[in-house]
Formats: sequence, structure tokens, C-alpha cells
Amino acid sequence: MEIVSVPTLSLSSGPKIPVLGLGTYPLTDGESERVVEQALAIGYRLVDTAENYRNEVGVGRGLRAAGVDRSELFVTTKFNAKWHGEDLVARAFEGSAERLGVDYIDLLLIHWPNPEQNRYVDAWRGLIALREQGLVRAIGVSNFKPAHLQRLLDETGVAPDVNQIQLNPLVSREELRSFGARHGVVTESWSPIGKGGELLEHPAVTGIAERLVRTPAQVVLRWHVQLGLVAIPKTGNPRRLQENLNVFDFELEGADMRALTALDRGEDHAVDSDEFGH
Ligand SMILES: NC(=O)c1ccc[n+]([C@@H]2O[C@H](COP(=O)([O-])OP(=O)(O)OC[C@H]3O[C@@H](n4cnc5c(N)ncnc54)[C@H](OP(=O)(O)O)[C@@H]3O)[C@@H](O)[C@H]2O)c1
Repeated sequence: MEIVSVPTLSLSSGPKIPVLGLGTYPLTDGESERVVEQALAIGYRLVDTAENYRNEVGVGRGLRAAGVDRSELFVTTKFNAKWHGEDLVARAFEGSAERLGVDYIDLLLIHWPNPEQNRYVDAWRGLIALREQGLVRAIGVSNFKPAHLQRLLDETGVAPDVNQIQLNPLVSREELRSFGARHGVVTESWSPIGKGGELLEHPAVTGIAERLVRTPAQVVLRWHVQLGLVAIPKTGNPRRLQENLNVFDFELEGADMRALTALDRGEDHAVDSDEFGH
């Protein structure tokens, strides 16, 4: 077992977010409890869950079992469309905080914009209020496109700390990344290693991995780190937990970074958040 110290990025609200964390979907409560405890033991501090994953109770148990001081943890969760309302967001917070067994949440996200419902700006106002009350340290969104982000800016003047989006070399989201950078929004990558699928077998990835004597997942996670992103790979496997964390002792050269970014298949390859949500 090797304990790794994960670097952080500063969010506009002030808190520091680790650049690598643990994804927990689709772990059950029982699995989450075990994996979160194992992850914290080797240095993970950011844990990503959601109301929709139905594992916040297990995540909370794992956090407590690990015995790490609460102030060192970075707990992220997200709420569903039914809470898109200025006052409803407070109830979403209460539900998640109770299931997790925490009295504050480090980062609370609107899970999907659900534009057909047309209430994500109301939800955003609710999050701003929660931050003012000190119940959440940072606030953000997930699966927001530039047009959704622009509406938040136009109607509230407050930019999210984070936008968590599907992002890996096959869907590298250049426009969203630069929109975020222009407005101080940290971009966090979900499915950072492409769900462990064909990306990790792509010759561009395996070629770099062989040359650097690293695994394909490590090469891809290092690409996220060097782009200034936050990545939250999920694994239920203790060996991979360690593998995914060991990405801070090597570097990709510019040509390798460009070769990985060039694998992008375009926005059509990403889940369309104007169509899908919950
Ligand atoms: N905001 C959103 O709408 C949204 C949507 C999707 C996901 N997420 C979040 O993002 C997290 C990560 O995304 P994801 O789970 O879709 O995809 P991912 O992290 O890219 O990939 C996870 C898959 O890769 C495998 N894997 C993990 N480490 C590996 C390694 N080193 N080598 C080979 N395979 C490996 C895992 O299998 P094993 O478990 O068997 O190792 C799992 O099947 C989720 O868990 C969730 O927290 C958010």
C-alpha cells in the first residue's frame, strides 16, 4: 500500500478541490462503504456520489470508518430534477446530508439541467443561498452546456465553482473547457477513463503507456491532471484504486498530450443534456 498526497485546485468560493477523486456509481451501499474506506486509506480525499446513485448512506459509512478528519474530506453529491426550485434545494441538501451523516457538504451539484423543466436557474438560486448559510462550501452544476452556464451568469451573476461533465480523450469538450476557464469554473471529468472501455485499448493510449511503463488508465488520468481538470475514476477493485491514484510521479510530454486530445470524436459522442436528465 502506497499513500499518495493528491494536489488540489482552488475554487472561486475558496475551498481547494483534490484533482483526483473516487467515483462511486454504480456501487451499492455495501460496496461503497468498503471502497470509500479503502480509498481514503491510500490518500483519496474527494468522493463523488449523488442522490440518484442510492449509495449516499454507504458512502457516509465508509467516510466515518476511515477515520480521516472531516476537514480533510471533500464530499460531493448531486440532486435530482424534482428539487429544481429555490426552496426545494434546501430539502435536497437536508436529504443528502442526513443520508451521508454530515452537517455540511463540500460541493453540491445540480445533477442535470433538465431544460424542458426550465427551473435550473431557480435551483441555482437555492444553491447560492445554501452557500451563504455555510451549509455547502462550494456549489456547482453537472452536464451543463455553454448555453446553460450563460443563463446562470446572465440571470444571477454567479458562476459555478465546478461543472462536472462527461470528458475523456474521446469526448474532450474543448468548447466547454475553455468556457469554464474564461469564467473561473473548474471542469470535472466524469467517465474520465471512458468507463474502462475501448479508450483504454486505443493504440494511441497503449503506445504511450508501453513507452512510459504505465497503464492505459494512468496515462489517461495524467492527461486530465495536466489539462487542469478534476477526474473521478470509479473502481471497486483495490488494485485499481491504487493504480488510478499513482499518476503524480510522471509527466506526459506535449506531443503525447496532443495525440490524446486528437482522439476527440466530437460533441455528438457525448450524452446530450438537452435530451437526457433526471
Ligand atoms: N454527473 C454525471 O451525470 C455523471 C455521470 C456518470 C458518472 N458520474 C460520476 O463519474 C464517476 C466515473 O465515471 P464512470 O464510472 O462512468 O466511468 P470511469 O470512471 O471512466 O470508468 C469506470 C469503469 O472503468 C473500470 N476501471 C476503473 N479503473 C480501471 C483501470 N485502472 N483499468 C481498467 N479499468 C478500470 C471500472 O471497473 P472496476 O470497478 O471493475 O474496476 C469501471 O467499469 C462515476 O462513478 C460517478 O461518480 C457522473
